[in-house]
Amino acid sequence: MPSNFVLMGVVRERVALTMIYLDILLYSAGGIIGTMHHLYFSGEPSVHMALGAFFSAAEVIPLTLLTLEAWSFVQLGAHQGTRSRTPFPHFWAVMFLAAVGFWNFLGAGIFGFLINLPIISYYEIGTALTANHAHAAMMGVYGMLAVGLALFCLRYMIPEERWSDRAAKISFWSLNLGLLWMVFATLFPLGILQLYHSVRYGYFDARTLKFVTGRTNDLLEWLRFSGDTVFILGGVLPVLYLSWLGIRYMVPRAAADDDREVQFSAVVEMNEAAK
Ligand code: HEM
Repeated sequence: MPSNFVLMGVVRERVALTMIYLDILLYSAGGIIGTMHHLYFSGEPSVHMALGAFFSAAEVIPLTLLTLEAWSFVQLGAHQGTRSRTPFPHFWAVMFLAAVGFWNFLGAGIFGFLINLPIISYYEIGTALTANHAHAAMMGVYGMLAVGLALFCLRYMIPEERWSDRAAKISFWSLNLGLLWMVFATLFPLGILQLYHSVRYGYFDARTLKFVTGRTNDLLEWLRFSGDTVFILGGVLPVLYLSWLGIRYMVPRAAADDDREVQFSAVVEMNEAAK
């Protein structure tokens, strides 16, 4: 992701390089050890649990710092937008990358950390709090990253006059609000209730069919219906529409190269202004 930020011109090369080194250190020293948090019931010694909990939590740090840097650049671009001759072409792609940072912090960082300590795992592993973290981290980080990169490419594939910033904007807000809704209306409260039940009546009881199909659970699950609808209709359809535009009206290679030159000069212009 740091290199994508640099390609879009929203993060300085030096900052991205520092983050990459920090990432390399954390992933190679910690990423593998970090996966120990999945092995709770496999009979590992407790020191493995402690190391797993620490290193998986630390992975979130570099990407969060990088996103703050990208965000301050986007803000700067917004202030200078009126002065620039060419509007910044990748605004929504960058917004999706900023969303990656947000979900990395909330979904992977906070929700991951919430279930990361061995004492919590004892009561919660494989419950709705796991689904809460898994959805927020998987769609939030890798889903948003995929859409951001798709928009970045589509921006070059779709002729300027057919490109729709509006579709990208609707998709951005719907995907993020839909996911927030899904998480805060259903998965998180469901997980807290299940954790409470597990601590009070035991882990086995909290995972029985009787509990998971109970009235409160049913109600909470139905609550996510509107969020899912926003996610699918407002979030997914516009991306499909833009992808269709990309396939239907794909710009020939030479013209795309010219276009890239123009867009790149807009990015350089913003970079110069940022110095
Ligand atoms: C972008 C990064 C991440 C993604 C995509 C991700 C995704 C997932 C998924 C899909 C699961 C469910 C696995 C299963 O059900 O077997 C999971 C479990 C888990 N994750 Fe993450 N995760 C990420 C980062 C983190 C971080 C940074 C932490 C700690 C702070 C963390 C802590 C956990 C724990 C403790 C579990 C096990 C929960 C259980 O088995 O009940 N994750 N993660």
